[in-house]
Amino acid sequence: MGNEAHDQDYSRKQQAYQQQSHYSQNQKLKLLVLVILTNLLSIYVFTGPLSFHHYPSLSHSESNLILHELNSSKAQLAASQSLLAELHQKLNSTNLLVQALLIELSGEKDKPFKASSNVDHAPVKLGNEDSDSVAIVTSDELILAVGTHKLPFGYSPRLGSDEIHMPVGSACLDFHEELNQYMSYDIGGECPVDDVFSQRLMLKGCEPLPRRRCHPKSPTNYVEPTPLPESLWTTPPDTSIIWDPYACKSYQCLIDRKKKPGYLDCKDCFDLQGREKTRWLFDNGGLDFGIDQVLGTKPAGTIRIGFDIGGGTGTFAARMKERNVTIITSTLNLDGPFNNFIASRGLIPIHLSVSQRLPFFDNTLDILHSMHVLSNWIPDTMLEFALYDIYRVLRPGGLFWLDHFFCYGSQLNKTYVQMLDRVGFRKLRWHAGKKLDRGIKKNEWYFSALLEKPMT
Ligand SMILES: *[C@@H]1O[C@H](CO)[C@@H](O)[C@H](O)[C@H]1NC(C)=O
Ligand SMILES: *[C@@H]1O[C@H](CO)[C@@H](O)[C@H](O)[C@H]1NC(C)=O
Ligand SMILES: *[C@@H]1O[C@H](CO)[C@@H](O)[C@H](O)[C@H]1NC(C)=O
Ligand SMILES: *[C@@H]1O[C@H](CO)[C@@H](O)[C@H](O)[C@H]1NC(C)=O
Repeated sequence: MGNEAHDQDYSRKQQAYQQQSHYSQNQKLKLLVLVILTNLLSIYVFTGPLSFHHYPSLSHSESNLILHELNSSKAQLAASQSLLAELHQKLNSTNLLVQALLIELSGEKDKPFKASSNVDHAPVKLGNEDSDSVAIVTSDELILAVGTHKLPFGYSPRLGSDEIHMPVGSACLDFHEELNQYMSYDIGGECPVDDVFSQRLMLKGCEPLPRRRCHPKSPTNYVEPTPLPESLWTTPPDTSIIWDPYACKSYQCLIDRKKKPGYLDCKDCFDLQGREKTRWLFDNGGLDFGIDQVLGTKPAGTIRIGFDIGGGTGTFAARMKERNVTIITSTLNLDGPFNNFIASRGLIPIHLSVSQRLPFFDNTLDILHSMHVLSNWIPDTMLEFALYDIYRVLRPGGLFWLDHFFCYGSQLNKTYVQMLDRVGFRKLRWHAGKKLDRGIKKNEWYFSALLEKPMT
């Protein structure tokens, strides 16, 4: 995981460089096309029948003829206007071609990349290993999905631009083969069922995913969801989802996986009658803070909306909903249908990786929570990005409950305490403890913290 993020870091740097050169190439090519088209247009205008200088004087007998001529000039003008529109469209599709060309070029540049560039150290390799075959953008849909779209006339002053650029993680464009594969689908038809593949793309910086025009396969025999509040603690029927990408093909199998050996994220969290049932209900004065104790640090009712980063099956949001607090839970469907499960409980899942900038505006949320996900597997810089982002979206006086952060004893004070201070959080509550079981010997620690964004 760490390696992947490192590669990503690296390829982002490279991308930034490439984009610079793309930009100027792009501009040059666009300019060239524009010059050619403008010339075509002027040739048309000056050689066409739009010439008035045959009429030196306006004799009475000729006025009818002039009127006639004017009439036809009007028609000619209309014709050239439509020609202009047509040329405009051609320019616009040339634009797309240029973009495709540049994407292709950047693919070729991946291997013989020279250190003569203005990046600070010479790159070694890019994520795309088998660049023997030149990657080709085969899909018009991809060009549309990552291209630009012209706005109707009159919208530019408010938006500051007359075109909209489609958002997609820049690093995504480095993985040509996967990207082309992902974007080869039946437009207007049924989307391929390839959740695992698409989430791998997300982790490669392809976020938001660029597939936009297909219908997801519907589960057969879907039934209406269980009504609230029973839905909060009800395991949904197996017919509510497509099981294709998962090892398990039923919720009972997911519940039973807690008995199986081997490490899995959130191993027992599909079992709503097990450990999930009591999570955050009791405050043990140590690493386990209670929800009511945390909410009790603020005036009643002032913690109303928030976000749970990597919230498993949504139990934190369920407990908060019972206290009239609305929590959005981010999760990937990595080895289970987490998003679907959360939604079936009547809670809001959001499909987002931890590297993504949070989709909330500054100073808006009352509380952020994260358990087990933010930990020492996240490269330091990326973690600092995430912490600054959490600080950004919290309102003044908002709470950040960092629940069971895992690390080694050597990292605790030196890296993480310093980082949290640097970002600017204020500590309301703090508990560090050695991880039980094998952790004692290996100097493995957890800390739980209740932090606050200062009021000013
Ligand atoms: C001028 O154009 C109008 C429609 O725009 C048409 O009805 C009329 O017949 C035309 N007159 C001549 C003389 O061509
Ligand atoms: C190209 O132009 C057409 C019509 O002029 C417009 O509908 C379309 O969105 C444009 N496409 C792009 C990618 O700008
Ligand atoms: C939540 O809100 C409902 C409706 O306003 C209210 O009846 C209920 O008492 C509230 N529950 C809690 C735990 O505050
Ligand atoms: C971290 O620092 C605190 C206070 O300075 C100290 O009490 C604690 O033992 C340190 N923890 C570790 C794991 O080094």
